[in-house]
Amino acid sequence: MLDALGRARAGNIDTVIGLGGGSSMDVAKLIAALCHSSQALSDAYGIGNLTGERLPLVQIPTTAGTGSEVTPISIITTGATTKAAVIAPQLLPDVALLDPELTVGLPPQVTAATGIDAMVHAIESFTSAIHKNPYSDMLATQALKLMSAHIETAVHDGEDLKARTAMLFGSLLAGQAFANAPVAAVHALAYPLGGHFHIPHGLSNSLVLPHVLRFNYETSADSYATLARIVMLGAGEGSASDDAVSESLPDYFEALVDRLMMPSKLRELNVPEDSLPMLARDAMQQQRLLVNNPRKVSEQDALRIYEAAY
Ligand SMILES: NC(=O)c1ccc[n+]([C@@H]2O[C@H](COP(=O)([O-])OP(=O)(O)OC[C@H]3O[C@@H](n4cnc5c(N)ncnc54)[C@H](O)[C@@H]3O)[C@@H](O)[C@H]2O)c1
Ligand SMILES: [Fe+2]
Repeated sequence: MLDALGRARAGNIDTVIGLGGGSSMDVAKLIAALCHSSQALSDAYGIGNLTGERLPLVQIPTTAGTGSEVTPISIITTGATTKAAVIAPQLLPDVALLDPELTVGLPPQVTAATGIDAMVHAIESFTSAIHKNPYSDMLATQALKLMSAHIETAVHDGEDLKARTAMLFGSLLAGQAFANAPVAAVHALAYPLGGHFHIPHGLSNSLVLPHVLRFNYETSADSYATLARIVMLGAGEGSASDDAVSESLPDYFEALVDRLMMPSKLRELNVPEDSLPMLARDAMQQQRLLVNNPRKVSEQDALRIYEAAY
């Protein structure tokens, strides 16, 4: 990041184009923001700390995942095991260009992981304790509808442009949803896994997702019933009770992850069992995200969730 910023400053550039996955787009955002600014990158970490104006910024995603092309957020690596977020209105790009053909070459396992990340954005936005509103709900439900109907085809037949289009547009809608009503405990518990064990962002979300859903059940059963009906294409409608439908949401994702041939347990990724307390401690640092969770998460709760995911 700092290397790219140095080159941009030396190159006297006037526009920034971010082309790539969330990692590339997030770097592009900060280059645009800091290129003609004297602010140190570390002073911009956090919410609303970025000062000054940015260069014109165009974003072109090549993964259908983060939605970074429509969010005011940049997440960057700051050390061997740490990442930081810069959240500021200037980071919202001027233009997002979506071309599904750019995602055709995305390998199945990256398509699966980034797609689940986008689905998690929609789910966590829909149950966000803060800023949830009818607009973000509309975006989240539409995003989930598109992606649950197309993720399997996109993974198993990457050249299917209809599925690639649905995933790319779905991930954009999910990005807009969580830019309005932010993500929560799934992301808070996923970040330490990415930091310590270099597990890709989408996969780390997917590993803790069913267990966080079960933990949140007591506060979010109604919302989960709505989402379960969407993802299961109407399963349970008319016959099953709301309780039965909402309880099935974690099961749906466990089965989906299996069909997408993704690992589902931390042990499969060589995460040492004795690291779980450290992960739980680290997750508590993610208060920016945990405040959005519908149910309060203690360090003990986080440990239980990691144990269930192990
Ligand atoms: N800014 C935001 O709003 C936001 C939201 C969620 C996550 N993030 C961050 O985004 C990052 C993850 O982004 P991501 O999930 O898109 O993954 P990524 O950008 O890290 O890309 C994953 C891998 O796929 C490759 N790749 C990308 N496009 C490809 C293509 N079309 N064909 C073949 N290979 C391709 C990349 O080179 C990389 O190896 C994390 O740092 C995460 O924290 C940001
Ligand atoms: Fe994410």
